[in-house]
Amino acid sequence: MQLIRTISDLRTALKAERSRGKSIGFVPTMGYLHIGHLTLVKNSQQHCDVSVVSIFVNPTQFAPNEDLAQYPRDLPRDLKLLEEQGCDYVFAPDVNEMYPDGSGKTSTYVDAGELSSILMGALRPHHFRGVATVVSKLFNIVQPDKAFFGEKDYQQLAVIKRMVADLNQPVDVVGVTTVREPDGLACSSRNSLLSAQDRAAAVVLPQAMQLAQTLVDQGERSVAALRHAVVDKLQQEPRGEIEAVDIRDAETLAETAEQLTAPAVLLLTVRFGKTRLIDQHVLRFLN
Ligand code: PAJ
Repeated sequence: MQLIRTISDLRTALKAERSRGKSIGFVPTMGYLHIGHLTLVKNSQQHCDVSVVSIFVNPTQFAPNEDLAQYPRDLPRDLKLLEEQGCDYVFAPDVNEMYPDGSGKTSTYVDAGELSSILMGALRPHHFRGVATVVSKLFNIVQPDKAFFGEKDYQQLAVIKRMVADLNQPVDVVGVTTVREPDGLACSSRNSLLSAQDRAAAVVLPQAMQLAQTLVDQGERSVAALRHAVVDKLQQEPRGEIEAVDIRDAETLAETAEQLTAPAVLLLTVRFGKTRLIDQHVLRFLN
C-alpha cells in the first residue's frame, strides 16, 4: 500500500495504473475508519483492479460552529487498517493541498440545488455544497471508474448521484448497505464521541426504525401514524434530542403522499449531547 500526500504524486501513480489497463475504484472518507468504511473498500476491491481511499476532513462541509476541530482523527491507525484490508493507495492530503489559498475555502463550488437544501441541508445550509465540491475535486484528481458511498448518508448519496448525472462526470456511483454494530447502531466515526451512557441510549435509533418496519409489515401505510410511532419511540429515550424524523420517497427524497404507495425511506437525525447521529431505513413493503 502506498501513502500519497500530493495531487501530482497521486496523478502520476494512477496514470501508470490506467496505462496498464487497470480499473480504479475510489472510496472517499474523512478517516477515523471503522468497519463501515472498510466494507466500502471491500466492495471496491470486488469490482475494481486498484482501490484508492482518500482521508481528508473537508473544511468546506463544516459550518464555523460545527465539529471540524473535534472531528476524530488517527491516521496511523487508519493506515494500519487499510494495509490489513489490502488497499492499494491512500490519498491523505493536507488542507493546503486541497484548498491552496490556506483559508480552507474555494471560489468555485458545486451546488446540487434543491436536494442540498432540504432535510439535513435545512439543518446544515452549506454542508452538501461542501461535500459536492470536495467530491468533485477528488473525482477530478482520482478519475475513478467507480466510487463507493454508504447508504447510511442517504441524502449525501442522492446528492452525489445527482451531481454526477447533471455534470456528466464519468464515474459510476455505487451505494453500499449500512454496516451496523451488534446492537443495531450504524457504525460511525462520531460514535466515538458519545459518552458510555449516550452510546447505550443511541440503540433507540435502530429500534425506532425496526418499529416502523414492523408497523409497515402489519399493513400500516399512513405516514402520519408511522412518523408518530417513531417519534414516540425516540422520546422514550430522554438522552436523545430529536432533530428530524422524515419519511420521503426513497428515489427522489420528495415528500410522499399521506398513504404510502411507493418505496419510502425513513430518515432520522437525533442529537446526543453535542453529537449528531443520523440513520436511515428503506421501508420494505412485503404485502
Ligand atoms: P465519512 O463520514 O468518513 O464517510 C465516508 C463514507 O463511508 C461515506 O460514503 C459514508 O456514507 C460511508 N459510511 C459511513 N458509515 C457507514 C456505515 N456504517 N456503513 C456503510 N458505509 C458507511 O461521508 C463522508 O465521510 C464525507 O462527507 C465525504 C464523502 C468523504 C466528503 O468529505
